[in-house]
Amino acid sequence: MSVATSAVRGPQFRLDGQVALVVGGASGIGRAGAQALVAAGARVYIAGRRLDVGRQTAEEIGARYLPLDVTDGASVDRAVADLLAEAGQLDVAVNGAGTGLNKATEETADEEFAMVVDTNFGGVFRCCRAEARAMLPRGHGVIVNIASMSAYVVNHPQRQAIYNASKAAVLHYTRSLAVEWADRGIRVNSISPGYTETALTAVSRSIPERLASWNAKTPLGRIATPEEIAGAIVYLASPASSFVTGTDIVLDGGYRLW
Ligand SMILES: NC(=O)c1ccc[n+]([C@@H]2O[C@H](COP(=O)([O-])OP(=O)(O)OC[C@H]3O[C@@H](n4cnc5c(N)ncnc54)[C@H](OP(=O)(O)O)[C@@H]3O)[C@@H](O)[C@H]2O)c1
Repeated sequence: MSVATSAVRGPQFRLDGQVALVVGGASGIGRAGAQALVAAGARVYIAGRRLDVGRQTAEEIGARYLPLDVTDGASVDRAVADLLAEAGQLDVAVNGAGTGLNKATEETADEEFAMVVDTNFGGVFRCCRAEARAMLPRGHGVIVNIASMSAYVVNHPQRQAIYNASKAAVLHYTRSLAVEWADRGIRVNSISPGYTETALTAVSRSIPERLASWNAKTPLGRIATPEEIAGAIVYLASPASSFVTGTDIVLDGGYRLW
C-alpha cells in the first residue's frame, strides 16, 4: 500500500482512546460533530445549559452530558474539572455554543449586544482557557472552534452585524491561540459553516422568501445539514490534520464565491 493510500485507509482519522468535549453538543452542528467523534472512536462528553436536551442527546449518541453555561467561567471550569475527574484526560475540545441576533444595530440594546458577544466570543475564550489548562500540562490537545461564514461575509437580507463581528473575533482569536500554544502541543483551528438546518436558523428558514434568497445565493443551491459539517470536525480533531493549526475550514456550499 502506498503512503498516500495508507493515509486515507489508515488510522489517521480515528480517535480511539481519546477523550473529547463538545460544548454545544446537545443540538445542531455540535450534536452532529459529537456523533461523528463517537463514530471515530472517541469517548465524548457534550455540554450545554439544557439538562433535558443534553441528557437525551447524550443517551441517543452514546456520549456523556455535562451541565455548562459558557457565559459563566466558574461553570466552564467546573465542567472541565468534572470531565477530568471522570475521564482523566482531555484530548479534543470542540467549542460550538452560539447564539444569533437578527437586529439592526440602531435597534440593538446593550444587553442584546452583550448576550451575543459574551456567548459567541466570550464563551470560546472561557472554554479555550479551561481546556488549555487541562491540555497544556500533558503537552497534547486539539481545539476546534465553531466560527461561521459570517466571519467573512455580511449576510443579507437579515441584519446581524453583531453576530458577524462576534464570529470574526472567534476566527482571529483561534489563529492567535494557534500561535500561542503551537510549541506546547496544542493545535487550534476553526470551522466556518454556511447556513445550516439547525434551531439557530429555524425562524429564518420558516420565512419562504428568506430561505429562497439563501438558496439562490449559494452555488450549491441549498443550505447544509449538520451532518455535512461534521466531517471537518473529525478531520481537525484527528491525527489526519497533525500539520494543521491556525486554519479555518469554510463549509458554505460556495456562498463566498459569488
Ligand atoms: N446554523 C447555522 O446556519 C450556523 C452557521 C454558521 C455557524 N453556526 C454556529 O454553529 C454553532 C452551533 O449552532 P447551531 O446552528 O448548531 O444551533 P443550535 O442547535 O441552536 O446549537 C447551539 C448550541 O449552543 C448551546 N448554547 C447556547 N448558549 C449557550 C450557553 N450560554 N452555554 C452553553 N451552551 C450554550 C445550546 O445548548 P443549550 O441551549 O442547551 O445551552 C445549543 O446546543 C454556533 O456557534 C453557531 O453560531 C451556525
